[in-house]
Amino acid sequence: MSKFARIIGTGSYLPPGIVSNDDLSKTINTSDEWITTRTGIKQRHKVDKETTCDLAEIASKNALDMAGIDAKDLDLIILATTTPDKIFPATATMLQNAIGASCPAFDIQSVCAGFIFALTTAEQYIKTGMAKNVLVVGSETMSRIVDWKDRSTAILFGDGAGAVVLSGSEETGILHSSLFSDGSYVSSLQVNNNYINETGFIEMSGNEVFKIAVSRLSSLAEETLKKANMSSDDLDWMVPHQANIRIISAVAKRIKTPMSKVIVTLENQGNTSAASIPLALDTAIRDGRIKKGDNLLMEGIGGGFSWGGVLAQL
Ligand code: ACO
Repeated sequence: MSKFARIIGTGSYLPPGIVSNDDLSKTINTSDEWITTRTGIKQRHKVDKETTCDLAEIASKNALDMAGIDAKDLDLIILATTTPDKIFPATATMLQNAIGASCPAFDIQSVCAGFIFALTTAEQYIKTGMAKNVLVVGSETMSRIVDWKDRSTAILFGDGAGAVVLSGSEETGILHSSLFSDGSYVSSLQVNNNYINETGFIEMSGNEVFKIAVSRLSSLAEETLKKANMSSDDLDWMVPHQANIRIISAVAKRIKTPMSKVIVTLENQGNTSAASIPLALDTAIRDGRIKKGDNLLMEGIGGGFSWGGVLAQL
């Protein structure tokens, strides 16, 4: 049994297709100025023929490379996605085959909080001794469930994937994690299909989601730091879910963390749901901002509502 679960490698991938705010304003009644001011987003990536598994495969291989781990040495794969390629089998099993692993693999569906739910689950497998090396992936093709004629949602979402390799260690890693759900908000943010064989699109009460996101994520950050006997001064980085710059900056302000300590990637990527946190983490590790020994708080909220946070030392 390992004392800690540590992140030993990260990877990410964005499909090459890009849709800018100006592109969107040619087909719906919106503008670059409105989208930038209200959300902070300038562009998002969009798949052509690539699948959720294709994006996950490249992100996973990058994470395994950084970790120096062969896919055959994985004990478990957990893939968080809102946009699985099929109703079944789990996209995680297709990923297992694509990267040449042979371990158990399953999907987690917690929408934009999916990566946090997956990371926390992986941590439990490691701490109980059921697994040593776990691949945790967030991969999304949100463009498939966006109504591109609906200006209230089409401006927000993007496609992409991020992955981490979590490994058992005696060295400090994840310090505290917590998960929450409140199913009384299902209709505030959902895909509007009634039956499993019916395709639907995202619909949401933007204002309500905004307020709940700020309040839940601020309380979560305060509670998490308290439980770890830390203050926001001890945090080197916040790596939040990338939904809206105004949500991110309101949470940072409430917990007295300057924006210089917050990783923001949404300008170029939009909201990639379960992929957004590992995408932001990988970006900031590879560009040298996040270094070994840094304390990070990752947190996210999405449909359900479900939300959660992971405080970790890299
Ligand atoms: N372009 C131009 N005008 C628009 C657009 C658009 N794309 N969308 C809405 N408007 C108009 C509205 O019709 C409204 O016009 P009116 O005043 O004439 O009625 C006006 O702009 C203001 O609309 P609001 O909905 O009040 O705008 P708001 O400031 O709340 O911004 C937004 C909307 C960006 C959706 C915001 O509420 C938000 O980001 N909410 C969070 C939603 C979110 O992040 N969801 C992602 C999934 S959950 C998660 O990841 C946390």
